[in-house]
Amino acid sequence: MINSLFNIESRRYTGSKAKLTDWIISLMKKYCKGDVFVDIFSGTGIITAATIKEKMFKSIIINDFLYSNYIIYDAFFSTRIINDKKLERIIAKYNSIDLKSIKPNYFSKNFGGKYFHKNTAKHIGYIRDDIEKKKKSLTKREYNVLLTALIYATDKAANTVGHYDAYIKHKPKDKRIVMKMLAQLPFKNIKIYKEDANILAKKLKADVVYIDPPYNSRQYSRFYHLLETLVKWDMPILYGTALKPATENSSDYCTVRAPQVFENLIRSINSKYIVVSYNNTYKSKSSSSKNKISLDEIEGILNNKGKTKMFSRSHKYFNSGKTSFDDHKEYIFITKVND
Ligand SMILES: C[S@@+](CC[C@H](N)C(=O)[O-])C[C@H]1O[C@@H](n2cnc3c(N)ncnc32)[C@H](O)[C@@H]1O
Repeated sequence: MINSLFNIESRRYTGSKAKLTDWIISLMKKYCKGDVFVDIFSGTGIITAATIKEKMFKSIIINDFLYSNYIIYDAFFSTRIINDKKLERIIAKYNSIDLKSIKPNYFSKNFGGKYFHKNTAKHIGYIRDDIEKKKKSLTKREYNVLLTALIYATDKAANTVGHYDAYIKHKPKDKRIVMKMLAQLPFKNIKIYKEDANILAKKLKADVVYIDPPYNSRQYSRFYHLLETLVKWDMPILYGTALKPATENSSDYCTVRAPQVFENLIRSINSKYIVVSYNNTYKSKSSSSKNKISLDEIEGILNNKGKTKMFSRSHKYFNSGKTSFDDHKEYIFITKVND
């Protein structure tokens, strides 16, 4: 019997708007109107989740170009029926397996003793192999629910600061993998995409589009390579100390082309309102991590599209005053697109 559930929010993700959700939602409620919502760089999916909980829209389009995020959206938001009891039984077995009976596997050989304790990694690899073996007896969504539960459990056990650009150098703790069922948020009219935002934008017609791209050179596909490998289970050759596979899904938003691609995106969008998140909160001494698009550039591009309002909050405000990056702010732009 599984007692608790994974909420969509219970995940560490760089740039997640978990602490800003209430603020963003209240601004959208106050300044935007309409039925069709697009969350085009959706990351964890928590902004979409909040709009579902608040019953704000009749139809939703959600997108991110990472495989792991696509799987998570299908697991949490789709309405296709799944057999919860069957999945609970499978999860209970995974959670109670005797680790001594498990052989080393791709995951433990590569990531054991680094991103995870050897036992934890062996457990994750065993579960992932077994989900693949069960694939034929599962529906697509059941398969995605199990993968999502594994992604969330893996995140909780990882010897990292919340992404997989590197692992913490001290010896990983022997953390038990605990999978849980999901607090699903099924939404009837949702379309889920795994596309480049600039390509997808050309095909959409919406009322409100929420835009939250990366703003520095840190590629999400490199930060979350381990989850991508876990989901795809294609057992790639891994390189370097961080054990990353060959590059895939590189975002132009993390390069010098960012202002141009952002401008192209805004030009392509067919929507009544555009809501943009912007921040400069990434803490790094290296200049390569400086923002690729300036506040003025964002403002200029949005003003060309329609009347734009800007809202801001200091980062301190969202960290109960514990941190003091006084220059670090979170911004929301809301553009009412010209007719
Ligand atoms: C700042 S995060 C979004 C965070 C999200 N709003 C949340 O609260 O979890 C940016 C996301 O954009 C995705 N991404 C980056 N470039 C992309 C592109 N060209 N097309 C689609 N998704 C992209 C990344 O995978 C990442 O999940």
